[in-house]
Amino acid sequence: MPSLQEAKDKLINSQIWRSMFRGGTWKDTSRDRAQHILGNVWLHLHPARIRQRAVRFTYTWGLGGLSFGLFMILTVTGLLLMFYYRPSVELAYRDIKDLEFAVSLGMFLRNLHRWSAHTMVLLVILHMVRVFLTGAYKTPREFNWGIGVVLLVVTLFLSFTGYLLPWDQLALWAVTVGTNMASATPFAGAEGPFSNLLGITNANDARFALLGGTSVGANTLIRFYVLHCVAVPVVAGALMIVHFWRIRKDGFSAAPLPGDAPEKKMEVWPNLVVREYIGAVLMLVFLIAWSVLQNAPLEELANAGVTPNPSKAPWYFLGLQELLVYFDPWLAGVVLPGVIMMGLMAIPYVDPDAKRGVGYYSVKERPFANTVFLFGVGLWFVLIFIGTVLRGPNWSWYWPWESWEIHKSLPPPSWSLVLVDLTDKAGVFFSSQKTPGLRIPGFLGIGAALAAAGGMIGAYFGAGLALPKLIHKEIPFRRALWVTAVASLFVGVAAKVAHVFLRHHDFIGKNISQFGPTEIAYVAVVLFIVVLMGFLLPQKFLRTSPQSPVQYVTTMLLLLMMLGVILKMGARMGFNIKYILSLPAINLNL
Ligand code: HEM
Repeated sequence: MPSLQEAKDKLINSQIWRSMFRGGTWKDTSRDRAQHILGNVWLHLHPARIRQRAVRFTYTWGLGGLSFGLFMILTVTGLLLMFYYRPSVELAYRDIKDLEFAVSLGMFLRNLHRWSAHTMVLLVILHMVRVFLTGAYKTPREFNWGIGVVLLVVTLFLSFTGYLLPWDQLALWAVTVGTNMASATPFAGAEGPFSNLLGITNANDARFALLGGTSVGANTLIRFYVLHCVAVPVVAGALMIVHFWRIRKDGFSAAPLPGDAPEKKMEVWPNLVVREYIGAVLMLVFLIAWSVLQNAPLEELANAGVTPNPSKAPWYFLGLQELLVYFDPWLAGVVLPGVIMMGLMAIPYVDPDAKRGVGYYSVKERPFANTVFLFGVGLWFVLIFIGTVLRGPNWSWYWPWESWEIHKSLPPPSWSLVLVDLTDKAGVFFSSQKTPGLRIPGFLGIGAALAAAGGMIGAYFGAGLALPKLIHKEIPFRRALWVTAVASLFVGVAAKVAHVFLRHHDFIGKNISQFGPTEIAYVAVVLFIVVLMGFLLPQKFLRTSPQSPVQYVTTMLLLLMMLGVILKMGARMGFNIKYILSLPAINLNL
């Protein structure tokens, strides 16, 4: 009887084994370990050796690797689900029910797929935040950051296209809400600005292309199925290959810190690979437990005749849906997401400090970049929270302890600062349905209205761009914070005092009927944020940074647009202002 060792040696030296695995007998030397990584098609995505800091869990939090792991779980569970699911309006819902009741482990499989998809969206966002905070988007990784931004969009789209497939009420209406935004695309959507000039209707616009019809139906289901199961995963897979290849070529960001002793590199096998396996197993255990304990939602069969109130988009789009309260769909659903994506991609190219803060968490060293970025991500999640938890029937505000059974009264009437009425040829200032504002007929009125709106918007951007540069003196930051806080509160209170005196005026009484402590708080908080982020921070950190005018202007324009969103929200919440400029003839409302 040969000993275990002899049997093992025999196996390893056999022709069959040798034909599969190259190299000599495994002696666990450094060379063997490197060979193990380089000679394996999957493992050779890694380098053979790696810096010690790069392996530290608290540097990457394993977020990129886990995102990829989730993509793998989704591919496997998705393939298994495809054996049972048929994408037709008659069968889809029944097949999902069958998974629940007739297929062994069918419900578990569906749960695992669903919860992994939500987790992947969340982890990809967190991975982006970690990459930002460690400055890993800077030279030479700018392009890979851009690939990452596209991967984020693709991940969201992958999840969104899957949402429709169960063909229940949740699916139908979430996708209806989500795709409605496409009809607001400027030029290409039937309800978007300028589209009527091009003869675009709801039978040939962007939404039609997405749905294969004018509403979510059988054609949409097959389109989303093909997108979800073939087209988008292929694109995501291809982009991931480029992403990983670039990580290898650009080098991982965890470089030695200034003043560090010359570093010893670690072997990737087993140090990193074992950590990756442990991370993957822990995540899988967590997801399996979640899938056993909690079932994925499935509502009634999709019914185009019964609209749930409220109809909500998937959670990651609820921030955009919440913005619909304050902005027209073309801005909230198309232009703002577009600007956010382009803005994210532009970050590495506008960052004036290409060298500092790379490869370590540097909140103190990069206060401007980190504050603005974290504020943007935080704002997104606050809007998602409001949309998910605090919005009830008719999209009214409901605290968690309030019952949705009691429908709230409609929101107060809103008004526009300027309306350009091309049909009747007039410019209307303070336009509202309740009380007519000041109407100036003819081209003079139109010109005056356009000039007033243009002036306001121009003054906002002009002052935002110029002020941080014009004031050369260093402003003491802490004191400025206090002064800003007190001044913002003062403006809120002053608005309240003005309201007390003016509330009997016909226009104010009808359009701003209520101005209490909540409205004072809205005005004060919004003003504080806008002055802090739009003036004090740039004045302190951008004024003297070595950057080109293009970099400065792009950074400030993006920042001012983000703050414009908050300003507009404050104008609505405090003063019921709906639009700064309304131009209904071309569906343009700002
Ligand atoms: C499906 C989505 C994604 C997957 C599977 C993925 C995967 C990974 C992996 C495995 C790494 C190396 C380990 C780590 O940093 O955790 C990495 C690094 C990186 N990722 Fe991603 N990623 C994704 C999305 C993104 C996004 C959304 C961004 C940014 C917008 C991004 C930007 C980067 C950059 C710049 C690096 C290099 C980091 C460094 O050198 O420190 N990735 N990614």
